[in-house]
Amino acid sequence: MSAVSAADRQAAAEAARRRTFAVISHPDAGKSTLTEALALHAHAITSAGAVHGKAGRRGVASDWMEMEKARGISVTSAVLQFAHRDAVLNLLDTPGHADFSEDTYRVLAAVDCAVMLIDAAKGLEEQTRKLFDVCRHRGIPVITFVNKWDRPGRDALELLDEIESEFRLRPTPVTWPVGDAGHLRGLIDVREPERMLRYTRAPGGARAAAEESVPADRAAAEEGADWARAIEELELLRADGAEHDQGSFLAGKSTPVFFGAAVSNIGVRLLLDAVVDLAPPPGARELAGGGSRPVDAPFAGLVFKVQANMDRAHRDRIAFMRVCSGVFERGTTVIRAASGKPFATKYAHSVFGQDRSSVDVAYPGDVVGLVNATALRVGDTLYSGKPAAFPPMPTFAPEHFAVARPADIGRSKQFRRGIAQLDEEGVVQVLVSDLRGEQAPVLAAVGPMQFDVVAHRMEHEFSAPVRLEPLPYHVARATDAAGADALNRTRLVTGEGLVRSRDTTHLALFPSRWQADSFAREFPGARLETLIAAHT
Ligand code: G4P
Repeated sequence: MSAVSAADRQAAAEAARRRTFAVISHPDAGKSTLTEALALHAHAITSAGAVHGKAGRRGVASDWMEMEKARGISVTSAVLQFAHRDAVLNLLDTPGHADFSEDTYRVLAAVDCAVMLIDAAKGLEEQTRKLFDVCRHRGIPVITFVNKWDRPGRDALELLDEIESEFRLRPTPVTWPVGDAGHLRGLIDVREPERMLRYTRAPGGARAAAEESVPADRAAAEEGADWARAIEELELLRADGAEHDQGSFLAGKSTPVFFGAAVSNIGVRLLLDAVVDLAPPPGARELAGGGSRPVDAPFAGLVFKVQANMDRAHRDRIAFMRVCSGVFERGTTVIRAASGKPFATKYAHSVFGQDRSSVDVAYPGDVVGLVNATALRVGDTLYSGKPAAFPPMPTFAPEHFAVARPADIGRSKQFRRGIAQLDEEGVVQVLVSDLRGEQAPVLAAVGPMQFDVVAHRMEHEFSAPVRLEPLPYHVARATDAAGADALNRTRLVTGEGLVRSRDTTHLALFPSRWQADSFAREFPGARLETLIAAHT
């Protein structure tokens, strides 16, 4: 099986056209607006208009979960596919709330690039920082879009300084605004500085502003001081060497920067072009045992998200899989690496919110929703031909813990089934404490809102309302038998601070980092390993 088959060659050609990316931002920076603008500007392949939005907004909310609606947050992830020029773009949605950062991390495991969206008035915000850390950790190149330039905001150079000093990421503007935030006259594409792109909003009318190319001399005459200042700033930047460099961008050392206003479609086309021209296509993917799987190898895919009950009418379970190599063909039987067992791909869909349509063929970079995939788990590899297994998804260090018990003892069976299901989906981590046993599992979460999701779903989907008793722990460390022993003896924590995860790793739980460090000093022989932090 050494020769590359025609289908695998086709996979390589199709992979070269794919750009799979996510938009990361702090809530309210304009992610939904930008997603919508991108999809409308390009040609949405999947259900047009069904962009993930906030409750009540333009009637496009993904409202499979009432809680999501009530809180105006997106808990679920959707995938939107659209075409721009010759490229096929896959835009994966990430949850906006920090409490779901583990989920975001998994989604980011399935993209090749991220667009970091910044509110011009607010600059870098808490969630931008956390998400950027994830991108850095995963080595994902980042394109920056400074949004809301139609509103008063910060100085452009100051924003660049902030990115550079806080993220140690060199900002290299590809577009530059003429006029301050709130006083946007146009944009200069630094690759074509002999003209200005002017945007005019139709009075009282269409959301999308019309784009006009204005020659430099006319722009200078018409925009006066704004134009002169923009040119001066660009010269400053050039002298400083802040020019886009593809190598350093791909290495995660620099970020091309774009300015615009998603709400009026300003700068959106240039951003789309950048995703096509700068973002990397799917490439060879690292394997767990070393080596990598090239895109023209036989089919292999990574399950990065499992979601149950997206469709209330069907009560099903969807595993979202990113194709990493080869051609995925619906109906073929592939192998699940974790078990070595065959998996039939009869029900493969493209999924967007509640809309689905069958997918017959998918290429590297594409995301397929496998319906009723009860056997699949987050982090699973599926393959055909030469075996492959991608590295396991890291588990985040939980910071919130609670004991779960059935509110109604008569519904213990439903309780166990529900908890097991939520565990498999990765909604929370389910731990077992020897003290409490299996009937009172310890739930561990990165953010407390995960518990709200558990409580809501246990009640509404599994008809097994839960009682959640918070535990006074905030720090978890992986330990071993010696550590477990020491833990049981120490006076700092009681036996309650010891739990086991599903893969039987011992976890030592402490009220604070101080207690964890002090324990480590007292028992230097005990293994006490920091888990991957949600945000470092
Ligand atoms: P999110 O998904 O990141 O949370 O943000 P979302 O798109 O919902 O945008 C948050 C708010 O910012 C919305 O206003 C939206 O209209 C506004 N917005 C987004 N992009 C721009 C922009 O380029 N310029 C300006 N001026 N505003 C922008 P809202 O009042 O919360 O909702 P709406 O009633 O306007 O839809």
